Amino acid sequence: MLRYLLFILCATLYLPGLPVDAWGEYGHAAVGLLAQRLLHDHVRDGLQQLLDFDDYARGDFGRAANWPDAIKSIDPSYRWSLALHFVEMGEEHTPDTCHDYAPHLCPDGRCLVGALQNYTQRIRCDAPAASRREALKFLIHLMGDIAQPLHSGGYARGGNDLKGVWEGKPVNLHKVWDEYMLNKTIAEQFDGRFDRYLDRMEQEILFGRYAQWHASWLSCFEPPSAGDIASCAIEWVNAAHRFDCSYVFPTYSLAKTNGTLEWSTDYHRENADRVNMFIARAIVRLAYLLNTLLDTCVH
Ligand SMILES: *[C@@H]1O[C@H](CO)[C@@H](O)[C@H](O)[C@H]1NC(C)=O
Ligand SMILES: *[C@@H]1O[C@H](CO)[C@@H](O)[C@H](O)[C@H]1NC(C)=O
Ligand SMILES: *[C@@H]1O[C@H](CO)[C@@H](O)[C@H](O)[C@H]1NC(C)=O
Repeated sequence: MLRYLLFILCATLYLPGLPVDAWGEYGHAAVGLLAQRLLHDHVRDGLQQLLDFDDYARGDFGRAANWPDAIKSIDPSYRWSLALHFVEMGEEHTPDTCHDYAPHLCPDGRCLVGALQNYTQRIRCDAPAASRREALKFLIHLMGDIAQPLHSGGYARGGNDLKGVWEGKPVNLHKVWDEYMLNKTIAEQFDGRFDRYLDRMEQEILFGRYAQWHASWLSCFEPPSAGDIASCAIEWVNAAHRFDCSYVFPTYSLAKTNGTLEWSTDYHRENADRVNMFIARAIVRLAYLLNTLLDTCVH
């Protein structure tokens, strides 16, 4: 299963000319750019060819990763795709009311779960290039979104309506998880250098603190679900939602009561590593998914 580890290290650095917004640009770009480094050579080459002909990505996996956020605001004909970025889990928000995913939460397949299922079909070897290209951009992006716990948050529109403060300025909790925390981590611990963040994350994934976790992160690809992407997506959504109900929302209520809603200090310290881990996990899962789906494609 960890075969792909042997195919690592395309040492080239792809510095994305970062475009627009969820995990924020850095989070999504990190998922795209580091998954790219973990792909089997032949899979990576095939996907590179697809993206080379993409007007938006222009060959860059980091730009590709951010395309689904950009396009839904730029192009009215993609407005329908907004619903693909999350699962509307409902308004409950405490550990004892927290519930699991159910199909009615994904009407017409328009949610993270349905979209991952759709685009794993549409990227298959024999699909037309245009469809595969679009599917790739969505898969890179949505595997990032499903790792951001508040995209399965439900309550208060996934935290968008929970207001607090970041370095003295008003923010909402969803954005804090999407981008504020990671941006601060990169600014403070990596001197604002995204390339250094990527290199460190790659090291941690391959040889460091995350290396021992791959099997457990990929367990959904083993029987019984055996990589059925919908059941994996549901498992990941449920885990994210339980994290929200047991940690994110209760912590918010407590902080609100205490009147301590400045999130750039203790809250960032407490969660910075978690954010990195969620991103690392998304990278490992995405690389595995693409390597498995596309292993036999002939380009
Ligand atoms: C699957 O993807 C295609 C192409 O983006 C889209 O037109 C279609 O609506 C999607 N289907 C679902 C169920 O989301
Ligand atoms: C985070 O960093 C990205 C990349 O530089 C930037 O585009 C985005 O506006 C930043 N977000 C916040 C909330 O500062
Ligand atoms: C809120 O205050 C209580 C009691 O002082 C403290 O134990 C707790 O850590 C505080 N929680 C937050 C999130 O500020």
